[in-house]
Amino acid sequence: MADGITITFGPQRPGGAGDLVVFVGDDLALGEAARRILGREGVDLVARAAGSERFKGRSLSALSLPAPAGVEASRLVVVGLGSDKDRAKIDWPALGGFTAGKVSGRQARVVLDWPGIGGSAKETAEFALGARLRAYGFDRYKSAKKADAEESAVTALEILVADPAAAEAAAAATTAVAEGVVIARDLINEPPNVLFPEEFARRASELTKLGVEVEVLDLAKLREIGMGALLAVAQGSAREPRVVIMRWNGGEASEAPVALVGKGVVFDSGGISIKSAGGMEDMKGDMGGAAAVVGTLHALASRKAKANVVGAIGIVENMPDGASYRPSDIVTSLSGQTIEVINTDAEGRLVLADVLWHVQKTYSPKLMIDLATLTGAIIVALGQDIAGLFSNDDELAARIAAAGELTGEKVWRMPLIPAFDKAIESKFADMKNTGGRHGGAATAAAFIKRYVNDLPWAHLDIAGVGMSSSPSEINRSWGAGWGVRLLDRFVRDNHEAK
Ligand code: BES
Ligand code: MN
Ligand code: ZN
Repeated sequence: MADGITITFGPQRPGGAGDLVVFVGDDLALGEAARRILGREGVDLVARAAGSERFKGRSLSALSLPAPAGVEASRLVVVGLGSDKDRAKIDWPALGGFTAGKVSGRQARVVLDWPGIGGSAKETAEFALGARLRAYGFDRYKSAKKADAEESAVTALEILVADPAAAEAAAAATTAVAEGVVIARDLINEPPNVLFPEEFARRASELTKLGVEVEVLDLAKLREIGMGALLAVAQGSAREPRVVIMRWNGGEASEAPVALVGKGVVFDSGGISIKSAGGMEDMKGDMGGAAAVVGTLHALASRKAKANVVGAIGIVENMPDGASYRPSDIVTSLSGQTIEVINTDAEGRLVLADVLWHVQKTYSPKLMIDLATLTGAIIVALGQDIAGLFSNDDELAARIAAAGELTGEKVWRMPLIPAFDKAIESKFADMKNTGGRHGGAATAAAFIKRYVNDLPWAHLDIAGVGMSSSPSEINRSWGAGWGVRLLDRFVRDNHEAK
């Protein structure tokens, strides 16, 4: 974990070090516990300061004051929650993230007691999740660490609630999810000279500590199995590829698993069809799908989810070299279908083709979801705040979309129609690996679909959301770890015994 933040839960009593956070609505009234902790003078000070600073208590606004006399704290931070209407639909992780971003110094206490909020342990746990994710920073390669005043510097947060034990119990699950997101973020942010395929596989193997069965397929094994498409991509790299299978068996032994498949291109230069130099450094994030799968398996295992899930990631590096695959090559995929390579930069679909085929043949999953930073075209279509969803099954698509709404990791359904499939017909082989200039995300999805047999399947093109992420209340990292919260939620709501 890059940054450690410790979050604890305590009773609503005065005393302690660091910043003290209290909440108000747009009427500026404090909750009962905050009034008790601040005392009459403290409450008066908040009212006067709000007036002079024109602080209106609007949702996600804050006012920072020197701590009032008699209140043990370095500063008092007043966070606004807005109107009754705002308070009826609080985004708890966002509020936790916002709050963590407003405190400075190493320690802080948060009095979560606004009437109507903070009542439930579940909401408190969601608040803690947001705070934890906001505190994440990736600075392991910075020689001089950031100064204490930086917002990422908060390392200990105590959340003061009416029932600390209940909050703590509820937070066990959200902490598992937050850790999964942090693992994904670390993997995405790491440079490819450090995180080459073998190292990626080693890190994924750490899941064994949580009871996940991990199998690493090395080069010899991949050749033996016949993953000709994945191996074609890998052959130009000095680094050997790996495929990692991670199995969490928390459900009934008789229950078929949910399969999660991730694209793990640790660096995508484009290969012989080399990319232009501008922005090529971003292609260290071309393994965001694989990172999300590893992070999700961590979350599920750590919270002991009663579900059977198999995660599979194809990890390769796409490089130009004398040994590289080239445009016009025809490769034979694991499925037996042949592929004419038109552009070596359309490599992700070759990796997914073989891993998807292997997973459905070996584990007979009840459904498959793949995640891949697959196309620039999806960024053109949808931007950086919503992922593209392609699926052969309306119900699966709807369930994923619902999990997206609940977590804020939103998806938008895209079409799979015969025209896209036609666009990848090849003169020489069963298909070609690009479909021309138009509909790039959809022709990529049509390609992948040819490696999926008759089972519910969804493909998430996360090129826009998976790297170079937009900052939010719960994320300031280049790699947001997009997909971990979505997949955890999808499994919890649809495939977990209660
Ligand atoms: N990894 C890229 C897609 C990508 C682009 C991800 C930008 C994140 C940001 C993928 O391997 C790729 O190069 N796709 C090509 C496909 C084309 C050659 C058919 C693309 O989108 O241009
Ligand atoms: Mn590429
Ligand atoms: Zn790529």
